[in-house]
Amino acid sequence: MNEYDSERIAGRLEGLGFIAGTDIFSSDLVVLNTCSVRAKPEQKTASLLGKLRRNRDKTGLPQAVGVMGCMAQDKGAELIKRFKNVDFVLGTDRIERLNDLIKEIGGGKKFIDTAQGGEFFVEQFGRKKGVTAKITIMKGCNNFCSYCIVPYVRGRETCRNKADIISEAERLIESGVKDITLLGQNVNSYISEDGRSFPDLLAETAAISKGVRIRFVTSHPKDFNERLAEVIKEHKNICPLIHIPLQSGSDRILKVMNRGYTADSYLDKLRKAAEITPSLRFSTDIIVGFPGESEADFLKTAEVFREVEYETAYIFNYSPRSGTRAYKLPDEIPLKEKTRRLEYLLSIQEEITEKRYKAALGETVQVLAESVSKKDPFQLSGRTEYNRVVNFKAEKASPGDMVKVRITEVKKNTLSGRSDY
Ligand code: 5AD
Ligand code: SF4
Repeated sequence: MNEYDSERIAGRLEGLGFIAGTDIFSSDLVVLNTCSVRAKPEQKTASLLGKLRRNRDKTGLPQAVGVMGCMAQDKGAELIKRFKNVDFVLGTDRIERLNDLIKEIGGGKKFIDTAQGGEFFVEQFGRKKGVTAKITIMKGCNNFCSYCIVPYVRGRETCRNKADIISEAERLIESGVKDITLLGQNVNSYISEDGRSFPDLLAETAAISKGVRIRFVTSHPKDFNERLAEVIKEHKNICPLIHIPLQSGSDRILKVMNRGYTADSYLDKLRKAAEITPSLRFSTDIIVGFPGESEADFLKTAEVFREVEYETAYIFNYSPRSGTRAYKLPDEIPLKEKTRRLEYLLSIQEEITEKRYKAALGETVQVLAESVSKKDPFQLSGRTEYNRVVNFKAEKASPGDMVKVRITEVKKNTLSGRSDY
């Protein structure tokens, strides 16, 4: 979601005549699109703002600085007070304000706008289209998982009109896009203007996107049903990878997290889905060290984690977020212990990935070419339907082509091969 917003911000700035730079310290304007889901990204933003201020004081070069995204939404005026070099703060629903504001910055005037809601705003002009693109289908979240700040900073769930989503997909395809990701915090609770659910939207998008890959993130387990697996089975261009965060494998912790499912009901849904569509694979998010997570709770997470054999897993140390319900619970698990648990799960994931990679050796996979190496025009890079990066040699391929690649080499985190015409 943040990446998508960064594209929207960059697209808008380019539309206003700015040219993307590579060195933020010498740029006339720096816009930081921020994340506040955990403490770490917030600390990174604070440290970067400090560095920019020190650099400006040293060089004396004028530089305008804007903070946008979730941290801007959450902290608002506090950012202007704390960082004297910040000229404007715009909340997550205020990207379009860049237009009128940009002419007025500089000269010491400060701007803050963190109002939320209003129309479902989507860019009419974007950046140069590449091979892949994202389409936002909904914003906000109503789930209020007890650890999560998203419902507070992104607001309540709002679904975009299906007709608008479909016409955006058509426009993207016309411009040459070959891989579209439908985005939402919880796509499975999508409802269109005519009362259709997410599997209907997915089926309709896939049907108008012949030859184009369709992906979607994120699926909340409580709203996940078999219809989705059926739709994936019926449409060859929908990638059979479902990002379905488990968060914890302990029912006790899941309850305090307010997730609305148990480990068994989660596993049951995944099993049924895989029975319908055997090619399905899953990816996940896990939080370790949630308040009160005992060793026994953690081992339950590890058990489910092992059983599913995720394609990819994002594992996080619990990070207390002010304003959430879990914030009131003591964050008593020491960082060292959280990290031990995190590393344990990572080591399981590494084993699984290694096993998958070894099995892939000698196989032929469909890779959508996304880029060409600057040094060698016959060396390309792309992704499989399971979102695995593959580097490959091909004589006749260019970005946007679907290429059959035979995997000839497997390294720790990369698959390499050559085109198999
Ligand atoms: N601490 C750690 N991880 C968190 N996430 C959300 N909030 C927190 C938090 N307070 C993780 C969840 C979510 C992912 C986007 O970020 O795993 O799925
Ligand atoms: Fe946060 Fe839960 Fe909503 Fe995901 S579903 S954004 S974890 S509140």
